[in-house]
Amino acid sequence: MTETKVKKTTAISALLEEGRRFDPPIHFTQNANIQDHSLYEEAAKDRERFWAKMAGELDWFEKWQTVLDWNPPHATWFAGGKLNASYNCLDRHIKNGLRNKAAIIWEGEPGDQRTLTYWDLYREVNQFANCLKKLGVKKGDRVAFYMPMIPELAIGLLACARIGAVHTVVFGGFSPDALRDRIQDAKAKVLVTADGGYRRGNLMPLKHDADLALRETPTIEHVIIVKRGDFPLHVKEGRDHWLHRLMQEAESYCEPEPMDAEDMLFILYTSGTTGKPKGIVHTTGGYLTGTYATSKYVFDLKQEDVFWCTADIGWITGHSYFLYGPMLNGATQIMYEGAPDWPDRDRFWELIEKYGVSIFYTAPTAIRAFMKWGAEWPERHDLRSLRLLGSVGEPINPEAWMWYHQHIGREACPIVDTWWQTETGSIMITSLPGVTSLKPGSATVPFPGIEAEILSEEGERIEEGGGYLVVKSPWPSMARGIYGDPERFQQQYWSKYKGVYFTGDGAKRDQDGYFWILGRVDDVINVSGHRISTMEVESALVDHHTVAEAAVIGIHHDLKGQAIAAFVTIKEGSDGNGKLEAVLRDHVAQKIGSIAKPEKIIFSADLPKTRSGKIMRRLLRDIAEGKALGDTTTLADPTVLEKLKRTYEE
Ligand code: WT7
Repeated sequence: MTETKVKKTTAISALLEEGRRFDPPIHFTQNANIQDHSLYEEAAKDRERFWAKMAGELDWFEKWQTVLDWNPPHATWFAGGKLNASYNCLDRHIKNGLRNKAAIIWEGEPGDQRTLTYWDLYREVNQFANCLKKLGVKKGDRVAFYMPMIPELAIGLLACARIGAVHTVVFGGFSPDALRDRIQDAKAKVLVTADGGYRRGNLMPLKHDADLALRETPTIEHVIIVKRGDFPLHVKEGRDHWLHRLMQEAESYCEPEPMDAEDMLFILYTSGTTGKPKGIVHTTGGYLTGTYATSKYVFDLKQEDVFWCTADIGWITGHSYFLYGPMLNGATQIMYEGAPDWPDRDRFWELIEKYGVSIFYTAPTAIRAFMKWGAEWPERHDLRSLRLLGSVGEPINPEAWMWYHQHIGREACPIVDTWWQTETGSIMITSLPGVTSLKPGSATVPFPGIEAEILSEEGERIEEGGGYLVVKSPWPSMARGIYGDPERFQQQYWSKYKGVYFTGDGAKRDQDGYFWILGRVDDVINVSGHRISTMEVESALVDHHTVAEAAVIGIHHDLKGQAIAAFVTIKEGSDGNGKLEAVLRDHVAQKIGSIAKPEKIIFSADLPKTRSGKIMRRLLRDIAEGKALGDTTTLADPTVLEKLKRTYEE
C-alpha cells in the first residue's frame, strides 16, 4: 500500500485489492435472456422509456398516462394506470398455459411436503381473500402477518393484494414486543398467525407469543390462526378464527381490486442495525415492475427453472424474490420452513438435489457458515442441476465467494452478487449473468435504468476511489416513504445531497467502473485521519485460512483517535493458539497495509447478529467501551452477548 493511494480517495479509503476475474461460461451466455450490452444501452438512451417497456410486460386493467412525475423525494410512476398484484402473479398465468405448473414446492422442517400449482394457489388465494372480506377487511386496511415459512403465508399476502389490503409481515423469529410495536405503528386491523412453526426441531409458539403482543394492540379486531401442527394454544372467542374453518365457507372466486399504480401494496419494517424500525412503504405499479424485470434478467428466469431464494418472507428479499418477482414471471419455486443444519448440515444440498434446483440465492452469512462446517457436506450431494448462484445482504468477502464458486457452483455457475435495500425494493447493483465479467467481492455495475454513483462529502462524483453510494435519478420500485413519518424519510435519505437518494452505504469504484460495497457508513473507522471500512478489514481477516468470521469496530485511542478491534471466530478444527493473534495482525497488514492492523483481537465462538444475519457492530462497540448494552430486541441469540462480554473482560 502506498500513501498516494490513500490520499486519492476523499471520503473512505479503499485499500483492499482483488485481481481475480471470471467470465460467464459461453454456453450460459448463449442461452441467457440477455446476451450482450444492448439492455444497458437501451436504458441509458431513455430511462423512462425502458421502464415503461418493462411495465408494459405486466397486465394492466388501465394503461398509465404519465410514466414518471418527479418531485423529490416524491415519485409518481405510471400515474393513471390500474392493475392488481395478485392478478399479475396468478390469473395471468392461469390464462397463459401455466395452470398446472408447480408454483410452490414446499418442504417443512420435519420433512412434510406440499406442491401447489398456479391453479391451486389461485384457488386458495381467492378463498383467503373472501375470508378477509368477511372479517371486514377493506382496501387500504393493514393486515399483519406473524408466521412460519408455510404456503399459507404466501397465500395470505397475495389475498391481501387481491382485495387491496396492505400487508405487513413481521418475521416469525421476532419477539412479542417487536410484533406489538409494528402492529401499533401500522395500526393493523387483522393479524394472521399460526399455532406454531418448526425451527431446529423446536416449536416456535407463534400464537402464544402473538397473544402477549395482542394485549397492547387495540386496533386488532380479528386474528386468523393457521393450523400448522398440534400446538397447544388459547382461542379467544369472537376475536380468533381458525383459517381452515373460515376457508370451508368461503366462495371460490374473488374479483381482483383494480389498484392505482401508486396505491400502497405493503409496509415492511426494517430491522436495521441502528435505531427504531422504520415502516418502509412500497406501492403497486413501480414495485411490481422493478421486481419483475430484475427477476427476469438478473436470475435469467426460464419456465423450466427451479428457483430457490432461501430468505424468509419476513425480509424484503422474500417479498421481492419469492413472493412477487418470480411469481410475476410464472416461476417454480422452493419454499423451506426450517434451518439449514436440521437434521444435519447438508439439508440445503439435500433439497437442491431432491428438487433439481437450478438457481440458488442466499446470503454471505449462510455461505460463511457452510464454509465453517466444511465442504464434505455439499460433496455428499449431486448439485449438477444448479446453473446460477446469487448472494445478497452484505458484502461477500472474496474467500466466501471462491468457496461458493468452487464447492456449490462446481466452477460452472455465474454468481450474481446483488446489492439493494428494503428501501430500493428491487436489485440495484448486480451483474447480468450472461454478460458481466465477475470480480469476487464486487457487486459489479448498476442494473439497466439505475443511475448509481459514488459521491464525495462535498457531492462531487468520484470516478475512481471510495465515497458515498447514492442513486441520482428515481426508479420504479423505490420506497415511497416511511409509514407515518415523512420527515424522517426526507431526513434519512434525501437531505445529504439535494434531490439524490443517499443509501447510507460506502462504496468504491475501480478503474473498470465496478462498484465495491464497503458497508454502512456508520461502520467506518477513523484511524489517524484515514477512514477505513470495517468490511475491508473483516475481509482481510476472513482471507486467512483459520478464520471463519470477523467483526471489526473502532475503539477509542488516545493518539490515533480510533484504533481497530476485531472479534474473530475461527474455523472448526483450527488452532486458536496464542500466536494466532500476531499472525492475523500481520496478515491484515500484508493484505491492506499496516494502517489497518487491528490493535486488539478477541477470539469468540459466536458473534451477535440480527435475525437476518447482519453483525450488530453497535453492540460490540458497547462491549468494547464497557457501556450498558443498547437495544437488543432484534438479536438472534441474546446469550452470545453475555459470553462475549465475559471473554472481553478477561
Ligand atoms: C443493506 C440493506 C436487500 C436485501 C437484504 C438486505 C447491505 C445488501 C448487499 C450486497 C454488499 C449489501 C447494504 C445495504 N447489502 N446486499 N450484495 N453487497 N452489501 O436488506 O436489511 O434493507 O439491508 O444491506 O449495506 O444497505 P436490508
